[in-house]
Amino acid sequence: MDGALSKNDISHIVEADKAHIWHHLIQHKGFETNDPRIILEGKGMRVWDQHGREFLDAVSGGVWTVNVGYGRESIAKAVYDQLMKLCYFAQSAGSIPGSLFAEKLIEKMPGMSRVYYTNSGSEANEKAFKMIRQIAHKKYGGKKHKILYRDRDYHGGTLATMSAGGQDERVMQYGPLAPGFVRVPHCMQYRAQWDLSGEEYGQRAADAIEEVILAEGPDTVGGLCLEPVTAGGGVITPPPGYWERVQEICTKYDILLHIDEVVCGIGRTGTWFGYQHYGIKPDFVTMAKGVASGYAAIACCVTTEEVFEMFKDDASDKLNYFRDISTFGGCTAGPAAALENMRIIEDENLLENCTNMGERMMGNLHGLMEKHKVVGDVRGKGLFCGIELVSDRKTKEPVPEPTIAQTVAECGAQGVIIGASNRSVPGLNNCLCFSPALIATADDIDQITDAVDVALGKVYG
Ligand SMILES: Cc1ncc(COP(=O)(O)O)c(C=O)c1O
Repeated sequence: MDGALSKNDISHIVEADKAHIWHHLIQHKGFETNDPRIILEGKGMRVWDQHGREFLDAVSGGVWTVNVGYGRESIAKAVYDQLMKLCYFAQSAGSIPGSLFAEKLIEKMPGMSRVYYTNSGSEANEKAFKMIRQIAHKKYGGKKHKILYRDRDYHGGTLATMSAGGQDERVMQYGPLAPGFVRVPHCMQYRAQWDLSGEEYGQRAADAIEEVILAEGPDTVGGLCLEPVTAGGGVITPPPGYWERVQEICTKYDILLHIDEVVCGIGRTGTWFGYQHYGIKPDFVTMAKGVASGYAAIACCVTTEEVFEMFKDDASDKLNYFRDISTFGGCTAGPAAALENMRIIEDENLLENCTNMGERMMGNLHGLMEKHKVVGDVRGKGLFCGIELVSDRKTKEPVPEPTIAQTVAECGAQGVIIGASNRSVPGLNNCLCFSPALIATADDIDQITDAVDVALGKVYG
């Protein structure tokens, strides 16, 4: 850390935070007695707080975002140059980075064709919901308007995305929610809902979606929104055979498949997009966090030419096109940063590194499972991993929630920031989460899992 701030500057920043900031996902009662953690700087995989403490960041900015690591001068420069040329113009017109990033993105997404820019993951999801709803009106007299979402998945904090929210602790007390969103069962094998294994389990979990469609009436269901790997709901990787069957079901009932890649998108799982592991052909793909690695706010709702064409079918009707705008979808910093972010991932072979380091991390986590009986399950894909902690491996009783916070704090005391499922599924906020930047080295991975090893020993014995 360069130490450019004086002690007085730092205490001013802390006091201003305590006086005026309403932090995200924090219960402020009791919080005010401690100083908040202020992150002053970041470089590569590491960040420094107001006390000059260095941390290895195992969660890419807390919420799996900074995929290419901190302090990338070339992204900052690309953004600076673009802002000096043109900072903003409404996306009803085009821009240089808007066009070039869309072109580059679509190169990585065979079958997809059109990019709708917006500024957060929630909004990108809402754009897809609105398109699905409008298609229902255009093609099916409004009837095929229901959108299915899955237990334990998360799609955002706006009212419509909460209505598609499979994590009840994020939703409770914010009702009434929007109608027309229907829940389907999760596909997690560890907490199995069916006494099956392997592909049979995967197909059964997908069949559960078909059962909901049949109960609701296939002519009322227009879309299905799923995370490729459920993130905050416990890093849930799909069972084999699941996605193939999901795709079949969508085709059979003419249901648009919307994949929420807000976390998995842009390399997190070792491919550009999580769905690309499973041979799926989505109708919508939404993305946000890793798109510009947090250097600028940008989110995209990407769809096919076929969907795009549906909005041009009757030019004489002035309400028949997608009548939506997102003010900050016209910011040029986002696509400028995103273009450079993508170049870095390609030039530095970060997808390959993600796969290799992800394997190392999974290996280390399995080692922890052998050593600590509190580790009930290890899950992950690429550099997106989680472990589920249980008091009893047989009953799978989750560990008490405060001990999860203690484990996170013990890692912090060793200079490693890890994540945990937080206010997600009632009684099941018992997963530790790891999503280091795609630049992680073997030493970084070992430092993370060594810290977890020590922390588990201290908290659970
Ligand atoms: C899978 C998923 N979708 C959507 C969102 C919402 O994104 P945002 O917070 O940018 O609105 C999140 C945020 O964590 C997410 O994890």
